Amino acid sequence: MSPADARRSNVASACDSATNGFDAADVKWLANSPIAFPEPLDSVDNDDELPMNEYQSKHYSQRIEDVLDACLPAEDVEPTRLHEAMRYSALAGGKRIRPRLVYATAEVLGVEVDRVDAAAAAVELIHAYSLIHDDLPAMDDDALRRGKPTSHIEFDEATAILAGDALQALAFDVVVTHEGLGDRPAQRVAVLSTLAHAAGSQGMVGGQILDMGGEGRRLSVAELEQIHNLKTGALLRACVMMAAASADRLSDEQRHALDVFATRIGLAFQVHDDVLDIESTTEKLGKTQGADIAHDKATYPALLGLAEAKALADRLYHEAIDALAIFGNAAAPLLTIAAEIVKRDH
Ligand code: IPE
Ligand code: IPE
Ligand code: MG
Ligand code: MG
Ligand code: MG
Repeated sequence: MSPADARRSNVASACDSATNGFDAADVKWLANSPIAFPEPLDSVDNDDELPMNEYQSKHYSQRIEDVLDACLPAEDVEPTRLHEAMRYSALAGGKRIRPRLVYATAEVLGVEVDRVDAAAAAVELIHAYSLIHDDLPAMDDDALRRGKPTSHIEFDEATAILAGDALQALAFDVVVTHEGLGDRPAQRVAVLSTLAHAAGSQGMVGGQILDMGGEGRRLSVAELEQIHNLKTGALLRACVMMAAASADRLSDEQRHALDVFATRIGLAFQVHDDVLDIESTTEKLGKTQGADIAHDKATYPALLGLAEAKALADRLYHEAIDALAIFGNAAAPLLTIAAEIVKRDH
C-alpha cells in the first residue's frame, strides 16, 4: 500500500472512531456550525494599538507556491490539456490570502507549519476553482483574471469547467493524503469536513447561486450579508477554523474568538472587494474594474453607497481584531492579515 493509500484508509477508520485528542463531537461541531455571525465575547477595547510583530508574509507566500506546485499533476501527465488548465489557474499568482490566513492562524496557535500545508493548499485549490467558474459566461462572464485571460478564454469553456471540477476534487484528495498531517486521522477528518461544508451549498456555492439570483434586484441588507457571508466569508472562515482544527488543544473561548474574527474579516473582505470594483483600476486589480455595475450586481456600495460600505468594512475589521484580544501579542500574524484585507488596493 502506498503512503497516500494508507492515509486514505486511516481517514476512513477515523470517521468511526476519532482519536488523537479530537472526538467526534468536535468534528460534528466544525461541520455543522452555521455560517452566521457568532456573538462576540465581552468586548475588550484594544483599538488599533495592538503591536504588530514581523509577520513572515513573504515566507508563507513562497511556501504555498511550492506546496501547490507539488500537489498539482505535472503538465506532461495525461490528460495534459486538463492539467495544463489546472496549473494555469492555480499557479497564476493571486494574493494567496487564504493560505496565508491558514498559516497565520497556525502561527498564533503554535501549530507546526507542516500540519497546515494541506489545509492551505486545499483552500487555495477550491478558491482557484471558484474563480474559474465565477468567470464563466454563464456566471460573471469575465475575460480577465489575475492579469491574464480567464480559463475559458485561454482554453475553452468545457476545459475551464472541467479544470474547476478537478481542482475541487484535488483539494479534498490533498487533505486526505498530504503527509504533513502525519498520523492524525481525526484532524484530517475535521479539516475535510470544515472545508467541504464551507465550499458547498451552504457555503461558497450556495452564496454564488444567491449572488446570481440577486443580479438586477434590490436586496435587503440582511439578504446581501447572507450572500457575502456565504460566497466569500465561508471559505475565509474555513481557513481559520481548519488551522484551529489542526491544534491539539484549543479552549472553547479561543475557538469562539477565532470564529468571531474569521466571520467578521470574511465579510469585510467581500465588502472591500465590492469597493475595489468601483475605486480601483483594471490594471491594479488584474480583473475587470466596474464588472459589478455592468452586471447590476447586488453589492454593498450599490445598496448603502460607497462611504457607508467603506465604514462597514472598517467596523467589521475592528470587530474582527477586537475578538483576538484574548491571544495578546501572539495575535500579531492575524492582525497583519486583517489589516491587509481591508486596506489592499487589489
Ligand atoms: C477574489 O478573491 C474573489 C473574491 C472572493 C472576492 P481574491 O481577491 O482573494 O483573489 P486572488 O486570489 O488574490 O486573485
Ligand atoms: C466571487 O465574488 C466570489 C467567489 C466565490 C469566486 P466576485 O464575483 O465579486 O469575485 P470577483 O470580483 O470576480 O473576483
Ligand atoms: Mg461573482
Ligand atoms: Mg466575479
Ligand atoms: Mg468582485
